[in-house]
Amino acid sequence: MRRPIVAGNWKMHNTTVEARDLVTLLRPLVGTARAEVVVCPPFTAIAATVNAASGSNISVGAQDLFWEDKGAYTGEVSGPMLRDLGCRYVIIGHSERRQYFGETDATVNKKLLAAYRNKLLPIVCVGETLAEREAGHTLEVVSRQVREGLKGLESGQARDLVVAYEPVWAIGTGKTATAADAQEVIAFIRKTLGEMYGETAAAIRIQYGGSVRPENIAELMAQPDIDGALVGGASLDAVSFAAIVNYDEK
Ligand code: 13P
Repeated sequence: MRRPIVAGNWKMHNTTVEARDLVTLLRPLVGTARAEVVVCPPFTAIAATVNAASGSNISVGAQDLFWEDKGAYTGEVSGPMLRDLGCRYVIIGHSERRQYFGETDATVNKKLLAAYRNKLLPIVCVGETLAEREAGHTLEVVSRQVREGLKGLESGQARDLVVAYEPVWAIGTGKTATAADAQEVIAFIRKTLGEMYGETAAAIRIQYGGSVRPENIAELMAQPDIDGALVGGASLDAVSFAAIVNYDEK
């Protein structure tokens, strides 16, 4: 049985004070959630967020990491640094990083291995652009991202993996994939993971992301292969994010 996982990707939002205030509001609202709850602040607010979440059921993740543990890499942040701050998760290969910062399946793979090396649990993002979808290439793109991104990962490790399917055209646009479309691609991702890892694929959690809101979460979560959500905009408001986390409490 896969425990649902709902993660908030704050992207480039929230100072230390804003992060603390948001987590302070969130704590009592998600305290009894069945789903695992994760928030992913920008690097600068990780320490404040970990502090504000201390003793609660909210885990903290980073939005990226570098693949080397230390060295002359100006501006980068490594796995040991994130562990040191109290991060449990790390998002890898978000489409915004692929689109604006040159992230490729090869860099995703190096970062994934760095996350495991440092005992950080990766949330690996995959998803097609609008042009790729319209050209009928969705499954091919997602398959390549999964196979290349996870290269070298063994089935013992794969069990701890979280994959986030985020169709790029649904991110920040208000256009959610229909629950049936999301289920179709996510079932395909699980099938691909099955070809790579056998029975372990049934234990790997796969999230949907892209304009998730309190109004659409229940239908998404009712799909058999959708195990949670990676939430952008709606995770910046405690009440909205809590309503998504508590999707099963109506
Ligand atoms: P939105 O929920 O704002 O569409 O963002 C989705 C996302 O990119 C989460 O990582």
